[in-house]
Amino acid sequence: MGQPLNIGIIGCGTIVAAYLATFPKLKSVRLVAAADIDPLRAEAVAHKYPGVRALSVADLLADNEVDLVLNLTIPVAHAEIALQAIGAGKSVYNEKPLAATTGEGRMVLDAVRSADVRVGCAPDTVLGTGIQTARKAIDDGLVGAPISATATLATPGPEPWHPNPDFYYVPGGGPLLDMGPYYISALVTLLGPVASVIGAASHTRATRTIGSGPRQGQRIPVSTDTHVTGILAHVSGQLSTIFMSFDAVATEAARIEVHGETGSLVVPDPNRFDGDVRLRVLGGKEWQTLPVSAGYVESSRGIGLEDLANTAKGQEPRAGGQLAFHVLEVMESLLVSARTGTAVAIESRCDRPPAVPLT
Ligand SMILES: NC(=O)c1ccc[n+]([C@@H]2O[C@H](COP(=O)([O-])OP(=O)(O)OC[C@H]3O[C@@H](n4cnc5c(N)ncnc54)[C@H](O)[C@@H]3O)[C@@H](O)[C@H]2O)c1
Repeated sequence: MGQPLNIGIIGCGTIVAAYLATFPKLKSVRLVAAADIDPLRAEAVAHKYPGVRALSVADLLADNEVDLVLNLTIPVAHAEIALQAIGAGKSVYNEKPLAATTGEGRMVLDAVRSADVRVGCAPDTVLGTGIQTARKAIDDGLVGAPISATATLATPGPEPWHPNPDFYYVPGGGPLLDMGPYYISALVTLLGPVASVIGAASHTRATRTIGSGPRQGQRIPVSTDTHVTGILAHVSGQLSTIFMSFDAVATEAARIEVHGETGSLVVPDPNRFDGDVRLRVLGGKEWQTLPVSAGYVESSRGIGLEDLANTAKGQEPRAGGQLAFHVLEVMESLLVSARTGTAVAIESRCDRPPAVPLT
């Protein structure tokens, strides 16, 4: 193995803790620096993680030791930071979504095309054993020819637990842009890219109330749809029905199901790395839990960076920009369809990322 890929984090808010917990387990990447518009947050990371330097955003972007910027800022800042990183000759790995709009996402991919750097993007949960075991079951023909899928997220929204939930309720947020990347990346991993979509959406409350942290009780405005439902027509003919809501209390529906000619599959939560995959075959009376057969075992947020570091130059990483852009276009098109009342064709295509063998 060559030198590890040196990582500099920009954006040290809520999610940084999950990445910091993963770094010690990764062999091909090394955390070297952290930055935030709030310097105290970068310093807190440096304090927790010996050897990491707290820098200003500009200094991190100019730092010769940093090979890749891990962009954990809020969605409206994703493209701007990614473009700055690429402009500084660094690879970038964004938290999801790739950008707040497809226009911005396209700028990121265009910038990468003319630079000797790479772009990766969360979610990397789809590289875990849950989604990968489900994918192997489909690829091995356990459900026969796949026909359809459902994907369901039904929650009251993040404001009960997130101390600064404002970004969830502006364009670039909402249940679709926030949680859709997990579900739609999983659907593309399982069934391939999407050719067209039909969407419908609603927006129930003008404000939401923060439920925890120093701003508890403060009301924040809502300027995005908070319930989105739609149909994804995959290139290979399957139809996925999705339901993404911050206007529900709870659900007992499977997060994802895939139905084929001879079997139905319950797929675990795509916001997790593991979970049981259950199969019921035509004529069978019971659901059976499939043995774990693919994916990164006991993985956690950040495994996509390791995967990127181990992807040969010139090849698209599994948690790569092409998939993230396709997912972003699908999400934005669902919202366009909801406004116009017509089906929207998806222009971008991506390959199904290569399957992850049991690792
Ligand atoms: N919170 C979660 O559970 C969670 C889970 C998975 C993914 N994510 C994703 O992670 C990203 C960050 O979410 P979060 O919950 O950590 O948000 P957050 O608001 O807690 O943290 C964002 C951090 O980025 C900093 N920041 C914002 N704009 C910046 C800029 N232009 N330059 C430098 N720093 C900047 C902020 O100061 C803040 O410290 C989002 O894309 C979100 O979708 C969050």
